Amino acid sequence: MPRILDGKVVRDQILLELRPRVAALPRRPGLAVVLVGDDPASAIYVRSKVKACEDLGLYSEKHAPPATTTTEELLALIHDLNQRPEIDGILVQMPLPRHVDAKKVLMAVTPEKDVDGFHPFNVGNLVSGNPGPRACTPSGIMELLRRNEIAVAGKKAVVVGRSDIVGKPMALLLLHAHATVTICHSKTADLAGECRRADILVAAIGRAGLIRRDFIKPGATVVDVGMNRLTTAEEVEAVFPGNEAKQAEFARKGSLLFGDVHPLEVDEAGAVTPVPGGVGPLTIAMLMANTVAAAEAHLGQG
Ligand code: GUN
Repeated sequence: MPRILDGKVVRDQILLELRPRVAALPRRPGLAVVLVGDDPASAIYVRSKVKACEDLGLYSEKHAPPATTTTEELLALIHDLNQRPEIDGILVQMPLPRHVDAKKVLMAVTPEKDVDGFHPFNVGNLVSGNPGPRACTPSGIMELLRRNEIAVAGKKAVVVGRSDIVGKPMALLLLHAHATVTICHSKTADLAGECRRADILVAAIGRAGLIRRDFIKPGATVVDVGMNRLTTAEEVEAVFPGNEAKQAEFARKGSLLFGDVHPLEVDEAGAVTPVPGGVGPLTIAMLMANTVAAAEAHLGQG
C-alpha cells in the first residue's frame, strides 16, 4: 500500500515556523478576505482561512458582499483595502460570480498585497523565477514533496488540469525544481497513457475519481487536489460499492468529499495524498506564509 502524505503534519510544521516571525513583527500581520455571494464550498474555505489567522495571531477581516455585487463595487472595495496600511494581504476567494470580471478584480489587488500570487505581475515573477508570492496550493504541494523527501529533479511530472489557480503555477514550480513537466487537460488524447508515465502525478481537474488504477505508474507519487462533493447515496454507492462505513458517513454529514483520484485504486502508487487532509491544509498554511512575508516586506523586515 502507498505511503500516505499527511498534509496536516506539514501544515503544522509550516505554521510552527511562522510563529517566531509573527512575534518579531511590531504589529500583527493583517489579511482581508473577500467572499462574494453564498457558494457553500467557498464559505467553508473562507471560514478555515479566518480561523487559521486567529490561531496564528494574525488580524483578519472578512468582506462578504452579495452575489449581485458589480465589478465596479468590488474594484472600489479593493481600492480601499489597497490603501489601508494595516492590511498586508488581500485575498479574493475564487470563483467569482459569472457577471463579475474576475481578471479585472484580481488585477486591482496591488501586487504587494497579493497573497494568492494571482496578479499578472506576480505570475510574471513566477514564470521568470523572480522572488514573489506563489499561488498557495501549488507552493504547498512543493513543501509537501520537499518535507517528505520526494525527489523532483529529473523526474517526470504530469499535471492534470490547467487552471490559473493550480495547474499552470504547479507546472511552473515543478519545472523550476527541474522536473520534466507535462500539462494535461480535458482535451488531452490518451490521458491515462500520459499519466502512467508520471513519477509525480498531480490531479487538479475537478472530476471526481477520474484518476483510476491504469493512470498510475507503480511507485508513483500521486497528489490529489480534487475537492469534489458526492451528494447522493447513489453516487456514494457507485464509487464505494457495498461500503457501509462510507454510507453511514454520508448519512451523517449529508455529503462526502471525493478527490480527482479514485481512493480505492491507488494501491500500486508509492505515495498518495488523502482527501480530505492532504493538499487542503497546505493551501491555508501557505496563505499564512504569504501573509507573514507580505507584512515583513511592508514593515521593512525579513
Ligand atoms: N479558490 C480555490 N482555491 C483558491 C485559492 O487558493 N485562493 C483563492 N483566492 N480562491 C481559491
